[in-house]
Amino acid sequence: MRKPFVAGNWKMHKTVEEARLLVAEMLAGLQAVAGVEKVLCPPFPALLPVAAMLMGTEIGLGAQNMHWEEEGAFTGEVSPRMVAEFARYVILGHSERRAYFGETDETVHRKVAAALKHDLVPIVCVGETLAEREAGATEAVITRQVRGALAGFPPETVAAMVLAYEPVWAIGTGKAATPEEANRVVKDHIRATLAEMFGAEAAQAVRVLYGGSVKPHNAADFFAQPDIDGALVGGASLKAASFVAIAEAAAAGL
Ligand code: 13P
Repeated sequence: MRKPFVAGNWKMHKTVEEARLLVAEMLAGLQAVAGVEKVLCPPFPALLPVAAMLMGTEIGLGAQNMHWEEEGAFTGEVSPRMVAEFARYVILGHSERRAYFGETDETVHRKVAAALKHDLVPIVCVGETLAEREAGATEAVITRQVRGALAGFPPETVAAMVLAYEPVWAIGTGKAATPEEANRVVKDHIRATLAEMFGAEAAQAVRVLYGGSVKPHNAADFFAQPDIDGALVGGASLKAASFVAIAEAAAAGL
């Protein structure tokens, strides 16, 4: 059985001081949740201080992005080596990166390769926009993004990754997908594409999260879906009580 997985993506929120306060507030509650992989993804400046606070706990740390090059003249970028110093996970291909910062399937693929080289676990995001959904292009978009990000990697490597289905229209809008619809996309488009590319075993082993307006009141309904293994949480990860409640909902579904 796949282990449930809950990650908090703080996006561009929290100074180092605020990050420390938030982690201090959620630490005991999160540690009390057993059987669930829990990951915090603060902005870059807070990675080091949060890493120090998580030391000796089972709570993982993730970055929200990185460049694919090892080092060099790339002003403003952060390399996989720098991320791997503190973090074990890295979110790649988030829709906000795709929409505002020119991320493409090709750059996501390069970043996945770089993450693997540095023993980082990529959390690869895919998801259609509202216009794409209304045009009936959901399947085509998801399939293209999955293929674009993951083509050519060994099945056993893909099996150990984490994917996140984040329909763009559900992110930060308070309008989550229905759990059944999210599960349908994960099963029929994401896992089915993975099965074609890497075989049924890898497709079943990959953890696939849902993201987009996951809150304490709806989390359990997503976790009850057979093909959804957890959540990538934005807004609700900025408050200790709501993120802990979501992690508890994942544990309750075990
Ligand atoms: P919200 O939970 O704020 O909708 O954000 C989801 C998300 O984009 C997580 O990566």
